[in-house]
Amino acid sequence: MASATSYILFPLIFSLAFALEAARPRQSNITLGTSLHPSTNPTSWLSPNGRFAFGFYPEGTGFSIGIWLVPSPENTTVIWTAGRDDLLVTKDAVLKLTREGLKLLQNSEWRLISRYIYTSTGAFSASMLDSGNFVIYDSNFNVISETFDNPTDTIMAGQVLHTGSELVSSVSETNHSSGKFQLSVQIDGQIVWCPAASPDISEDAYHSIGPYLEGYQGLNLDDNGRLYLFNGSATFNLTKGFWNRTTRVYRATLDVDGIFRLYSHNLELNTGQEVLAEIPKLTDLCGVKGTCGLNSYCTSAQGVVACECLPGFDYLDGNRTSSGCTRNFTTSGCYLNNDNTTYMSTLENVTWSVDAYTEQTYSTSKEDCRDACLKDCFCDAALFQVNRCWKQGLPLRYVIRDSTEYCATFIKRVNMSAGEGHVSSVAENPAAAPVTTTNRKFSTKILIVSVALITGIISTLAALMFIFYRYQDGRYRRMRRNREPALVDEIAPRSFSYRELREATDGFKEELGKGAFGTVFKGTLPRGQRVIAVKRLEKVVAEGEREFRTEMRTIGRTHHKNLVRLLGFCDESTNRLLVYEYMSNGSLADLIFKADRRPGWDERVGIALDIARGIHYLHEECETRIIHCDIKPQNILMDDNRTAKISDFGLAKLLMPSQTRTFTGIRGTRGYLAPEWHKSAPISVKADVYSFGIVLLEIVCCRRNMELEAEADAIILLDWVHHCFMAGELEKLVPDEVDVIELNRFVKVGLWCAQSEPGTRPCMKNVVMMLEGNVDISLPPPGFSS
Ligand SMILES: *[C@@H]1O[C@H](CO)[C@@H](O)[C@H](O)[C@H]1NC(C)=O
Ligand SMILES: *[C@@H]1O[C@H](CO)[C@@H](O)[C@H](O)[C@H]1NC(C)=O
Ligand SMILES: *[C@@H]1O[C@H](CO)[C@@H](O)[C@H](O)[C@H]1NC(C)=O
Ligand SMILES: *[C@@H]1O[C@H](CO)[C@@H](O)[C@H](O)[C@H]1NC(C)=O
Ligand SMILES: *[C@@H]1O[C@H](CO)[C@@H](O)[C@H](O)[C@H]1NC(C)=O
Ligand SMILES: *[C@@H]1O[C@H](CO)[C@@H](O)[C@H](O)[C@H]1NC(C)=O
Ligand SMILES: *[C@@H]1O[C@H](CO)[C@@H](O)[C@H](O)[C@H]1NC(C)=O
Ligand SMILES: *[C@@H]1O[C@H](CO)[C@@H](O)[C@H](O)[C@H]1NC(C)=O
Ligand SMILES: *[C@@H]1O[C@H](CO)[C@@H](O)[C@H](O)[C@H]1NC(C)=O
Ligand SMILES: *[C@@H]1O[C@H](CO)[C@@H](O)[C@H](O)[C@H]1NC(C)=O
Ligand SMILES: *[C@@H]1O[C@H](CO)[C@@H](O)[C@H](O)[C@H]1NC(C)=O
Repeated sequence: MASATSYILFPLIFSLAFALEAARPRQSNITLGTSLHPSTNPTSWLSPNGRFAFGFYPEGTGFSIGIWLVPSPENTTVIWTAGRDDLLVTKDAVLKLTREGLKLLQNSEWRLISRYIYTSTGAFSASMLDSGNFVIYDSNFNVISETFDNPTDTIMAGQVLHTGSELVSSVSETNHSSGKFQLSVQIDGQIVWCPAASPDISEDAYHSIGPYLEGYQGLNLDDNGRLYLFNGSATFNLTKGFWNRTTRVYRATLDVDGIFRLYSHNLELNTGQEVLAEIPKLTDLCGVKGTCGLNSYCTSAQGVVACECLPGFDYLDGNRTSSGCTRNFTTSGCYLNNDNTTYMSTLENVTWSVDAYTEQTYSTSKEDCRDACLKDCFCDAALFQVNRCWKQGLPLRYVIRDSTEYCATFIKRVNMSAGEGHVSSVAENPAAAPVTTTNRKFSTKILIVSVALITGIISTLAALMFIFYRYQDGRYRRMRRNREPALVDEIAPRSFSYRELREATDGFKEELGKGAFGTVFKGTLPRGQRVIAVKRLEKVVAEGEREFRTEMRTIGRTHHKNLVRLLGFCDESTNRLLVYEYMSNGSLADLIFKADRRPGWDERVGIALDIARGIHYLHEECETRIIHCDIKPQNILMDDNRTAKISDFGLAKLLMPSQTRTFTGIRGTRGYLAPEWHKSAPISVKADVYSFGIVLLEIVCCRRNMELEAEADAIILLDWVHHCFMAGELEKLVPDEVDVIELNRFVKVGLWCAQSEPGTRPCMKNVVMMLEGNVDISLPPPGFSS
């Protein structure tokens, strides 16, 4: 108690000296011009009851700005942090309340650290309240900024975590940067726990509460420590109420381990903290998805979790075993195992979250399953469970031990002593195959490297977004220069201010086109004179602020030569813009539907493969899998080298309010829409496969899927193709001289993709292999529909 008291008293004395209103026992009326310093008193402002302090606290080798519970000087219980992913503050910094809000002076630059609603008078005073809320007022005592509006990992009694917002755990007890887990209060009425790096996919969630209280406004914590949802009439209690707050402080924190805990601090008895509730309550912390990184599995004993690499893998970072593992050798080529160069390691009772798009087959024994993977050159691991076998490429996520039911994981490994020289790759078609295999392995490598990069990038990106969000134009741009611009520019999409983009596009002068999401303008970035395409989103849901940023994160993480790259975005109130690389050769529609630009057969084959590989990447290889929902020639753009790149991917979600469940409205374009869209059946990646099938036939035939001027039986392309295929008259379909074997192959693939039953359509991996001619294609069944 003594140390706690002196801790309270120290700043108190100094703040009194600063306070203009000396009669107040504690500093609760912070007036304009008042300042704080990390190393000289006052370092913080206390709430009237002395329980909360706002100011500088030591972190790492520097300081952070935040709010903490006062009776914990050493092991500080930080409840809020400003700019948690920013660089640490140095000891010569100054924090000052100015008319523009709270400003931080560091390296002789002032920057604003509070976001607030503008009023004519500007900021006038501020208070650290007894509730743990730090508020800034204007001269009429209207609240213009409060930290309760912007929680990090904790909510306090009286605070509401509003729908559409989230808590993100901290890195560790002593590092309050954004950590691995996220709790989102979704606008669709669910509270979802998931790894912060992969939100929005229901398979990633490790817990959810879905009371479906219509119109509820957020997650509340009341004065008695009760966590509840309320919609104006009905209540849903997450916890019961406890004791009256007068002697206690309640806080609910998404902890470092991904568990949301309700704590009570009994300040009068100073007995430290007590855990009142945990959500979810797990006996095995390995149940928290994302506890271990990719390709590592989680084990727990006596409440301590450990992450172990799969056999043949090493930690990405030996000092942070939870960051995931990577293969400890580099693979090249695709192993067919003709000469026993590969073998499988078996992990009994180990299972993982199978990718939603993984092919599942029936398998009577685990040996069958193991051998099936060994023989499949694209398979890196297999999972056998109850007579079923899943084969999948890397990475494996959420690998855990599970003894509830027999299961086994098989990991493909390369026998180094058998020698890489003996490794044969799947080179049946010398022209096409090596391209795929290197591509494929290259992507795998990219994936592994990405894992490492992504973790870094996400935090940089999160930091950028944070800065963008929080600082005003001029200031955040200055901040950004302090970071490594090259890295940020090359890998992560950056945020632009509306003004920057207005200038870059010369006031949105040159319109390139209009799409489902808005209008596209041409522009030039001042730096490097890079030509860009700026898409101004017009139909995005109003509350979509957080989804928008999440989507930007997802899209920004996609890197594939057949996807149009997102360079950045702007998210300023109602102005939502996306910045893409500029594609100089227009769209595929311009190319194939206009006779004068029509590409020859070989180029068409290349374009079809490019598109298939791009979609395959979206479906199976990028970190968050993406269903495009609107594959059509207008969305395929051609770059300087006439390489086809897919655009507009990842945006469909922004138009849908309940993004993680089934898609409600139709998002695509008539003619390319899979039949399930019309039946309100669940939409899967196979919907894209259908659209691709139609586009493929259009590319083959260089005509639109519907041509009213054509002869009666040729109006609908799909029917016409099927007719010609059955009649053995494929040459009628194409306007030019083509390779007949390839034509036959492409038409068959198109007909397979356009099957009306989603389950019958091949997955994109097989589509790519079929197009390349690496596998035999059986006769497509007649179950297609247009
Ligand atoms: C804070 O101090 C200012 C200046 O002394 C005074 O005008 C204002 O009324 C005070 N606010 C409160 C809430 O006491
Ligand atoms: C906190 O963690 C982040 C992310 O892991 C890291 O970048 C930062 O340097 C850490 N800060 C301290 C003070 O250790
Ligand atoms: C601070 O941490 C020490 C152990 O590191 C512990 O004994 C002590 O109880 C903690 N104090 C508070 C106030 O939590
Ligand atoms: C609150 O939710 C319940 C259950 O969904 C619903 O019956 C009720 O109409 C809702 N009340 C309001 C005001 O939306
Ligand atoms: C929730 O808890 C409050 C206070 O304990 C109680 O009054 C209310 O009836 C509870 N509501 C439900 C639906 O259990
Ligand atoms: C808590 O107790 C105090 C007095 O002990 C009382 O004035 C106050 O109304 C109580 N608050 C609640 C929420 O019950
Ligand atoms: C990879 O790890 C295995 C054990 O997990 C080890 O036997 C092998 O030597 C390692 N290979 C390399 C290249 O480090
Ligand atoms: C682990 O940490 C130690 C000490 O901080 C450092 O010397 C070593 O290089 C680190 N190892 C890795 C793989 O980062
Ligand atoms: C591979 O191993 C199997 C079983 O051990 C053996 O029958 C076969 O001959 C081997 N093949 C080669 C090419 O070594
Ligand atoms: C795997 O689980 C089954 C039952 O679920 C059990 O009988 C078997 O001993 C376990 N095997 C290992 C290696 O733990
Ligand atoms: C690796 O290859 C060598 C030589 O071909 C063979 O003797 C050895 O048994 C193989 N190891 C495995 C695990 O298959």
